[in-house]
Amino acid sequence: MIKIKKDKLLIDQHDKNGFWGKFGGNFIPETLKKPVEDLTILFEKLRKDKKFIKERDYYFQNWVGAPTPFVKLENLTDHLGGAQIWTKIVSEAKGGAHKIYNATVHCLIAKRAGKKYIVGDTGAGYAGKMLSMAAKKFGLKCKIFMGAKDIKRQKPNCDAIRANGAEIIPVYTGSQTLVDAVSECMRYWVSNCLTTAMCVGSTVGPNIFVKICGWSTSQISRELMLQIKEEFGEVPKKLKLINCVGGGSSSFGFWNEFMHYNKKQVEFIGVEAGGPKKSKRHAAPLTYGSKIGILHGAAQYVNQNRDGQIEETESISAGLDYPGVSPLHCFLKDTNRARYTAASDEEALNAYQLVTGFENLNPSLEPSHAFAEAIKIAPKLSRDIIICVNSCGDAIKDRDILKQRLGKYK
Ligand SMILES: Cc1ncc(COP(=O)(O)O)c(C=O)c1O
Repeated sequence: MIKIKKDKLLIDQHDKNGFWGKFGGNFIPETLKKPVEDLTILFEKLRKDKKFIKERDYYFQNWVGAPTPFVKLENLTDHLGGAQIWTKIVSEAKGGAHKIYNATVHCLIAKRAGKKYIVGDTGAGYAGKMLSMAAKKFGLKCKIFMGAKDIKRQKPNCDAIRANGAEIIPVYTGSQTLVDAVSECMRYWVSNCLTTAMCVGSTVGPNIFVKICGWSTSQISRELMLQIKEEFGEVPKKLKLINCVGGGSSSFGFWNEFMHYNKKQVEFIGVEAGGPKKSKRHAAPLTYGSKIGILHGAAQYVNQNRDGQIEETESISAGLDYPGVSPLHCFLKDTNRARYTAASDEEALNAYQLVTGFENLNPSLEPSHAFAEAIKIAPKLSRDIIICVNSCGDAIKDRDILKQRLGKYK
């Protein structure tokens, strides 16, 4: 079995063809070879450039609002009566979710590359909202590709994208969700790559996009490591980091700094979208044993039929409603470093109600999946065990779905 090396970041542990074990790579058309190579050279140069790092940190701190809070959920902990439940409220970053880190870095790179335009995909609308915000900040014209189904169910984020001056391109193909938005965005980039930069909204896509996104969102665990050491003096003997997994960017970013701890000390738990309880469709390729296939330029576990055609998914959460998953997570699953499970729509809704009932926190439907797992396991564990959940999005965007399903929003 391939092992994770201790002396190197996971994003750099790929072979010369861009594979982490069996996953990742660059399945791209000939026309994209040069732009992808140029982006790779530029990124590898910038990440070693002290001025660029200073600029990134300046914007993360003074514009995004890093660090986001790390707090104990005392009422929920007492109610469940087991392990301590803590959360990092990443939704307090500018715009309300972790997607701002990747968007900011992509815009900074696009400026260095002399691009005037940037395009991106979105599902829950947060990746689109953040890219439109960063594009406005850094003077780039922006187009966001979004499935028609997601445009209907994530209206507040669509309004924000338009208010930031970006154009939303509705995607009517396939399931009209994130998977189709990413495909359309990549298609657009093939014909416009000389003038336009592309931001892939998660740790998916050809190798370099996985790396840039993983590198950017790792800000979350850099902060968390300092906050944990300040709170507990050291990394606790038993720490469980629970995160929802769609494409996998928030979870990778939440875990990266803890990668080299023994999993008995720091356990990573990724929670995928199980979909409606009665439906066979799910967005949980890691949990339910999907086969390896190629999606969006990379090899990964992906939901597919017998002919290898991508299968449609169904989830209450637009951000998790995706048939594939980052090659980094496929690698973490195969190396046994992370454990993956799924929460159903109903479990996520129950978790949302419980968390908002006990705490002043408003996790969107994506992190509500992670809270569902925390709520499931906490009562069986002792009080010295620390569970930390990444509350990576704010539920304001889910206002309409929550009203429909629960009869009220807060
Ligand atoms: C708030 C939130 N959390 C999680 C996700 C899932 O994506 P990822 O797994 O890349 O973090 C999304 C995607 O849109 C999101 O908006």
